[in-house]
Amino acid sequence: MNVIPKPQKYQQKQGKVDLKGIGKIEIDQKFDGLAEFVQEYFGKFFDKGGDKTLKVTVDEAIAKEGYSLDVDDDVSIAASSYEGAFYALQTLRIMSYADCKDVDGIVDKCHIEDKPEFSWRGLHLDESRHFFGKEFVKKYIDMMAMHKLNVLHWHLTDDQGWRIEIKKYPLLTEIGSKREKSNIHGWHSTDDDGTPVSGFYTQEDAKEVVEYAQKRGIIIVPEIDMPAHFQAAFAAYPHLACREKKVEVAWYFGGKYPLSIGQKDWNRSACIGKPTTMQFIYDVIDEICEMFPAPYFHIGGDEAPKEEWKNCEHCQALIKEKGLKDEKQLQGYFINQVQKYLATKNKRLLGWNEVLEGKNLDSSVVVQYWVPTLDVNVKNHLNSGGQVVLSKHKYFYFDMPYAQYPLQTTYSFQPYFDGIKPCHKDSVLGVEGTVWTEWIATPEKLNFQLYPRMEALSEVAWNQNEKNWKEFKARLDEFKPILTACGIGYAKDEISCVRNLITRAKRRAKWYNADENVEFDLNK
Ligand code: ACM
Ligand code: ZN
Repeated sequence: MNVIPKPQKYQQKQGKVDLKGIGKIEIDQKFDGLAEFVQEYFGKFFDKGGDKTLKVTVDEAIAKEGYSLDVDDDVSIAASSYEGAFYALQTLRIMSYADCKDVDGIVDKCHIEDKPEFSWRGLHLDESRHFFGKEFVKKYIDMMAMHKLNVLHWHLTDDQGWRIEIKKYPLLTEIGSKREKSNIHGWHSTDDDGTPVSGFYTQEDAKEVVEYAQKRGIIIVPEIDMPAHFQAAFAAYPHLACREKKVEVAWYFGGKYPLSIGQKDWNRSACIGKPTTMQFIYDVIDEICEMFPAPYFHIGGDEAPKEEWKNCEHCQALIKEKGLKDEKQLQGYFINQVQKYLATKNKRLLGWNEVLEGKNLDSSVVVQYWVPTLDVNVKNHLNSGGQVVLSKHKYFYFDMPYAQYPLQTTYSFQPYFDGIKPCHKDSVLGVEGTVWTEWIATPEKLNFQLYPRMEALSEVAWNQNEKNWKEFKARLDEFKPILTACGIGYAKDEISCVRNLITRAKRRAKWYNADENVEFDLNK
């Protein structure tokens, strides 16, 4: 059995079936659009004109996103939703190796009943630090769909680039999407590669990608990071900052370079005290919401320094006017204002766990828990009825070296720790892997960091029952030819499953201090 994520219930039956014998396709009209994928995946088997049937019917008793799949003389799929029927096709696609060349379409007979553990099965993509473009993103979505992932969290803005067209503020992309070069050689280096980076999505592009994802059961949650990680916007519109100094789109990824030129504020926060900043943010939200119909909006909210607010007359005046205790509460006040604005558009605000710092946040916000340590604010948020998405660093930061977080770490994730208890089960929407791209400049490197971690993520998100690392690894080996057929270069076991502690320590030190490509180059 080669299916990833592992189905909840799989019964192998005697015998095999030849998909080339299928000559009739019957799909209930509820599943409008599904026929396109039946042709895309299996068309190459069907053109022989057999007398067997592939049937997709409605069964309202099946869980949302769940399905049953009977591979017998005929192939029968039942589901209550389009997504469920689509996932049955993904299972059959994997079982039949439909993406591979020279395959015979012969599949073991079986009965499958399947449904997801979590409703939020997310994958993130940072296109600010490096820009990969529309065709890459569509492929990313295809691969997510194959793994039954259903939320693409698209990180579109940060200090190093603004990647989405906002018609009211054209300089965001005219200036903010371009930088001269990129930091290389790890967090402690001030070296650069001398190569310019640019690129952004037009509003038409974004809508096209949203529609492409929707057909594959995926919602896109855009992230416009605020109030910090905002330097690309400052480069375009300096008045958005407390101190209106001219800045460039950041080419560096950590604090080392700014420190080396005597500048402490590597990641500055927008000026919350100026009404023009709030108007800018509402205007941007208006245009983003037009492009992205998902019921969630990610506002980042992470790593927001408070220094500039302390010395800003506008921010201090607002603190006084609103009776806030300090700058942390100012952050909370800001997030609550944005949350209220989003609520008028029927959107729920999502933010990284730092949004809870002010302890004055509305509990309707969804918190993405990423920090490596325990955050008691997250515990309190859950206890007051708030919801979370889990992206804990150790398990789900796929930009990190495998020597630091080997594949088995991701696979072994279990949700109840660091303040989360089984009684919070219904408040855990799900899990999400992140792909930050400070040290990922090419699609090849990105795929190396992501695969086979995406397989472990999808298993964690879909099926937490009877986990068994050895069984998973064996199934993964059966699955890997599909990655190869899809043109995905994945990390080999020698890298992704490295065990020797000395080897790990050496690779990690090299990765952090000198060469972020050390593992990627070893994989070649
Ligand atoms: C984060 O990694 N700053 C969310
Ligand atoms: Zn200010």
